[in-house]
Amino acid sequence: MVLEKGLLVSDLLDNNAMVAIVLDRNGSVLFINKTYLVILGKTEEEIVGKFIGDITPESRAIIVLKTGKAIVGYNWSINGYKMIACALPLIKNGELVGCFAYSLFMDIWDAKDLMENLMFELNMYKNEVHNLHSARYTFADIIGQAQAIQNVKNLAQKAALHPSITVLINGDSGTGKELFAHAIHKASSRSKLPFIRVNCAAIPENLLEAELFGYEEGAFTGARKSGSPGKFELANGGTIFLDEIGEMSYLMQSKLLVFLQEREFERLGGHRPIRVNVRVIAATNRNLEMMVEQNKFREDLFYRINVLRLEIPSLRDRIEDIPLLVKYLTPKININLRTNVTDITDDALGILSKYNWPGNVRELENVLERSMILADMERSSTISPNHLGFMKVKLDYPCSGSSGKLKEVLEEYEKQVITKVLEETRYNKVKTATILDIDISWLYKKIKKFGITSHNL
Ligand SMILES: Nc1ncnc2c1ncn2[C@@H]1O[C@H](COP(=O)(O)OP(=O)(O)OP(=O)(O)O)[C@@H](O)[C@H]1O
Ligand SMILES: [Mg+2]
Repeated sequence: MVLEKGLLVSDLLDNNAMVAIVLDRNGSVLFINKTYLVILGKTEEEIVGKFIGDITPESRAIIVLKTGKAIVGYNWSINGYKMIACALPLIKNGELVGCFAYSLFMDIWDAKDLMENLMFELNMYKNEVHNLHSARYTFADIIGQAQAIQNVKNLAQKAALHPSITVLINGDSGTGKELFAHAIHKASSRSKLPFIRVNCAAIPENLLEAELFGYEEGAFTGARKSGSPGKFELANGGTIFLDEIGEMSYLMQSKLLVFLQEREFERLGGHRPIRVNVRVIAATNRNLEMMVEQNKFREDLFYRINVLRLEIPSLRDRIEDIPLLVKYLTPKININLRTNVTDITDDALGILSKYNWPGNVRELENVLERSMILADMERSSTISPNHLGFMKVKLDYPCSGSSGKLKEVLEEYEKQVITKVLEETRYNKVKTATILDIDISWLYKKIKKFGITSHNL
């Protein structure tokens, strides 16, 4: 098809079926179509020539300009308009010269539920793939000089030498519980055998039993013809890591208890006892003692798993490790994001040291990623306080309305953070879970627990 000569970009893109924006290499707007201007409520003069990060800070175009890779089919919601969007790199003579982002209008309300369900399944399969890998981290990957973390590391190293001891790892979200589980397995005599992780929170309750113990042919509708081994069988000889054990239903807890007592089980629909030799490592960020008191966690199971207990310190309790962690994490992030940021100013380190870090090391990683992208966009190799401006929002989370008891304060805080991010994402649960770096099933539980309501949910 030959296009009429003289057809301009604006002629092609100025239609009300889409929003479209073209950016140069540095993220400045070269062109924006009228439909997008209407949605943003701005004039062309207010937008053209401006940095996209100042107009729509969440723009995926920034990432495209960073990586040179297209991002296709993401949710883009702005001023109440919900769209599916694409951001494509513009390449000229083999060089990245800009980015073209456009959206397709459609009513994604109907598609939302479907998509969330698909994301839920996708996450489950992602976890599966992740599980196929054996343990990836060693004790050398656990960074920290603070006495608090050194003590736990020493204890964990001792646990590694006793390959049958059950280990319970406790600690806030993002403190490195999984890291410890991997490291214990790797340092143990089981290291050549499988390390299987089961996320008890991500697997729907009715599937967990089959997941753990496997099933025989015809055990339930949809069961595979040949039956399937469960995680315990797959982990035989190695380690099974029961992550988020605090989320396991009471009924499943009983079944797990029987296994821990007998060290054997039957597949669902099967009659043959199967004996396995596995080390169990369980982890949770919940207070299991309190759950026992509230009859939410079986006391007998608690004693079975609370044999050797590792309490992973929160980052705010080892703030002196922040410079070390920054030094360790930045090269890793440089590789992942293809940035080139190698330094941080003392002022910026000061900001990081004053922050409360509710999301612990994982949050530190996220903060560094964001600040390094911002520094890199300015072609700076040093993180300075102006690259940490977005942290202010987090520091400003209000925390009123609670009694002052730590648990209630934390719950109130958790509720407010979740509500705020839900509002920011216009109640998009997938996006909220991604931003908060939590599992979507965990988010559903929290929404239910806190009674967060909105007609959008
Ligand atoms: N001591 C540490 N040194 C280096 N990296 C760490 C350390 N602790 C945590 N991390 C990093 O922080 C991230 C979160 O760690 P991990 O997944 O082990 O936390 P978690 O306690 O299991 O969190 P959650 O409760 O949310 O599952 C990972 O990317 C991990 O590599
Ligand atoms: Mg974890």
